[in-house]
Amino acid sequence: MRELILGIESSCDDSSVALMDAKTYELVLYKKISQESKHCEFGGVVPELAARLHTAALPNLALDLKPYFEDIKAVAVTNEPGLSVSLIAGVSVAKALSISLGVPLIGINHLVGHIYSLFLDSKAKFPFGVLLVSGGHTMVLSVDKSGKITILASTTDDSYGESFDKVAKMMNLGYPGGVIIESFAKRCLNDEYKFTVPLKGDKKRLEYSFSGLKNQVRLAIENLGKNLDESEISKVAFSFQKAATEHIIDKLKVIFDMYKFEDFGIVGGASANQTLRSELEKICAKHKTNLLFAPLKFCSDNAFMIARVGIEKYKKKEFINYKDLRINPRSNLDGIFI
Ligand code: KG4
Ligand code: ZN
Repeated sequence: MRELILGIESSCDDSSVALMDAKTYELVLYKKISQESKHCEFGGVVPELAARLHTAALPNLALDLKPYFEDIKAVAVTNEPGLSVSLIAGVSVAKALSISLGVPLIGINHLVGHIYSLFLDSKAKFPFGVLLVSGGHTMVLSVDKSGKITILASTTDDSYGESFDKVAKMMNLGYPGGVIIESFAKRCLNDEYKFTVPLKGDKKRLEYSFSGLKNQVRLAIENLGKNLDESEISKVAFSFQKAATEHIIDKLKVIFDMYKFEDFGIVGGASANQTLRSELEKICAKHKTNLLFAPLKFCSDNAFMIARVGIEKYKKKEFINYKDLRINPRSNLDGIFI
C-alpha cells in the first residue's frame, strides 16, 4: 500500500494537482492547466476570470486522481498567499476531497512551496539563502538550519516578475511578460536607453523598488509613439531587463558581503530568466557559494512543490481541521519555520 500525498495549487492562474509518494519522494502524477492564454488579451490576471477557470478545471483534475484515491493519505493545498478568489477554489476542492476520502488536510504557504522547489530533485538542505522572484514577490531570505526564515530584503512596490508583465503590457505584447520581454531582449545587443538602476549603490537601503524604473520605461515608450517595430521593442526590452536585473544583483552583492552562504537558491517563476541566472552565478562563484536552482519546469507555479511541502507536514502530523483552514491572501514569511 502506497502513502501518497496530494498537492493542490490554485493561488493565481494555474490549476495544478500532484501526487507524491511520501516514502520514496517519487512524483506519481502531475497535472497543470494554465490559464495564461485566457488572461493574455487583458495583459494581466483578471480575478473573476481566474476564479471561473479554476472552478471549471479543478473538478476535471480531481477526476484524474480517481485511480489513486485509495492510496491518498493526506491532502495538501495552497491556502496563502495569493488571489483570494483563486485560493478559495483550490481550498474548497481540497476540503471536499479530504472529507470524502477521510484523510487529513494540510494548509500550505505558496512561497514555502517555491522554496521547496529546490528540493524537488532533492539536492538542497538547510541552511541556505534564497532569492524568491515570482509575479507577486521579490525577496531575499535566509533559511537557518532549523528551517526558520528571515527576510533580508523585499520589494516596497512591484515585484521583479510583475515589472516584466507591466512593461510587456505597455507595449501590448501580452501576458505573462517575463518570457516575452526576455525573448525580445535577446534580439538586442546594446543598452540604448541606459535606464537608471533603482537605489543603485545605496548600501543602507536593502530593499527593492521597481516602480521608478517602470515609469522610466513608460516615458521611453511614450516618446516612441504608437506601433513600435520589433527593433524598438527589443531595445526597450533589453535596457529594461538589464536595469531590473542589475537592481536585483546590486542589492544581492551587499547581502553577500554581509552574510556567508554555503548554498544559495533562486526560486519562483522569474528565476527562469537567463540573464538573472548568469549574473547570480557570477556572485556565487566570487563568494564560493553553491548555486541551487529548481528544475526549470517547476520554477513557475505547480502542485509538485506543494505536495513536497505536504510530505514534510504529513510527517510532522501538522494537520488542520477543514473548519479551521482559511485562505489568507497576504501572509508574512518572516520568522516562520518551514
Ligand atoms: O511564480 P510564478 O509562476 O507565479 C507567482 O507566484 O506569481 O511567477 C510568475 C511571474 C510572472 O510575473 C512572469 O512574468 C515571471 O514570473 N516570469 C519571468 C520569466 N518567466 C516568468 N520574469 C522574467 N523572466 C522570465 N524568463
Ligand atoms: Zn508562485
